[in-house]
Amino acid sequence: MEKEKLIELAKSVRKRAYVPYSNFAVGAVVVSKKGEVYTGCNVENASYGLTVCAERNAIFKAVSEGEREFSLLVVVGDTEGPCMPCGACRQVIREFGSDIKIIAANLSGESKETTIAELLPEAFDYNDLK
Ligand code: THU
Repeated sequence: MEKEKLIELAKSVRKRAYVPYSNFAVGAVVVSKKGEVYTGCNVENASYGLTVCAERNAIFKAVSEGEREFSLLVVVGDTEGPCMPCGACRQVIREFGSDIKIIAANLSGESKETTIAELLPEAFDYNDLK
């Protein structure tokens, strides 16, 4: 699926976000190396710290379907510039590869392409554990 279609898909799943506390809805799409596409939105909780971001929900859905390797993650939010993944999500994305491409976008048509290696340099990596 091409970039614009993936951004549109992230925008549509964003509408399902459960955000009664922040009112800030986020949508994400992750593409596996097999070429499968998984979506996620943020889901908040009255116990605020239990909130799960859109990116992590998309990745956890994919992993629970048997995926382990990803090529691309797209995230969309109603931000000034492109909606960048939070630090916690960067670590979770990095768990599944250092070469994963990231497309961060907003509702004004702006987008930025980067990689997880760029967003999380010198990451904590399980491959380095002795
Ligand atoms: N949020 C995401 O879904 N992804 C991010 O990368 C940043 C933050 C959500 C969490 C919370 O529901 C809302 O945005 C405000 O922080």
